[in-house]
Amino acid sequence: MLEAVERQIQHYITDLGDPDARMLYRRLPHGKRLRARLILTIAGTGLPAVKTAAIVEMIHAASLLHDDVLDEAYVRRGRPSINAAFDNKTAIMFGDVLYSKGFHELVDIDRDVARIISDAVVRLSLGERQDIVLAERFNADRTAYLNMIDQKTAALIQASAEAAAHLVGKDRRIYRTYGRNLGLAFQMIDDLLDVTEDAATLGKPAMHDFAEGKTTLPYIYLHEALKGADKQRLAALHGRPLQPEDEAWIRTEMDRHHAIERSRDEAKELIEEAIALMADAGETSLEAIARSMIERSF
Ligand code: FPP
Ligand code: MG
Repeated sequence: MLEAVERQIQHYITDLGDPDARMLYRRLPHGKRLRARLILTIAGTGLPAVKTAAIVEMIHAASLLHDDVLDEAYVRRGRPSINAAFDNKTAIMFGDVLYSKGFHELVDIDRDVARIISDAVVRLSLGERQDIVLAERFNADRTAYLNMIDQKTAALIQASAEAAAHLVGKDRRIYRTYGRNLGLAFQMIDDLLDVTEDAATLGKPAMHDFAEGKTTLPYIYLHEALKGADKQRLAALHGRPLQPEDEAWIRTEMDRHHAIERSRDEAKELIEEAIALMADAGETSLEAIARSMIERSF
């Protein structure tokens, strides 16, 4: 069912009439297309749903092109990122092309869909900015982390579900909550995998978030649990490349203080809530999508 979305994106790219954009698009690995999958599962495969899914995936791809520049990340989905294979200017400008073409097409779909998606992109940008601001020092504030991922990641997934529900006249509120929970859990799991998995599995360096200054949920819980010199040691390691012995120490302390378990439980709870909502709405496929998110990591 995703082939129609791939064809639609291809059509939008071809429509640009620009060989350079076509070449760059071919270099982009697709990813899991979670947002498109959600939209088609909720709204079916009619043209407005396919177009919305294609546009959301183009906006998402644009945000990752920019994110890899901001994060100085040189690997994306196991392949050199566009900023690594070309340079920052190419990644930023191709991101702008995808993003603006997406918006140009969005205005013709439906006024409410355009409002829902464009509002989410504002929130996504505010969230990315917060991610950068929070990384300036060790962030021990769980609420600040949750607000940031709510904007950075959950906003577009929530908007995908809500826009899809709107297209077929389903109850927007239920799908919105489902999408938000999924988005929050998705980012929590992504952040957890950065700690628990190795570089080969991740397709990018392991424990990179903390070196970048990002204190994700397990670091926040570990910081809360540590006392005295250990607490200071953790805070002092923030924001610079980790030595192997520091990496090992962090992992051991996270195990000892159940920081991974606590974070995982929090993500699981959000997923369970999302599953329950969809069970009530009789949406079995959406239950399965939520469940697959837990399986992805644990
Ligand atoms: C990945 O986070 C980043 C996002 C989910 C959002 C990025 C948003 C922007 C750059 C602003 C919006 C810009 C446009 C053009 C729409 P991460 O770094 O935690 O995840 P990662 O491990 O996959 O890199
Ligand atoms: Mg990143």
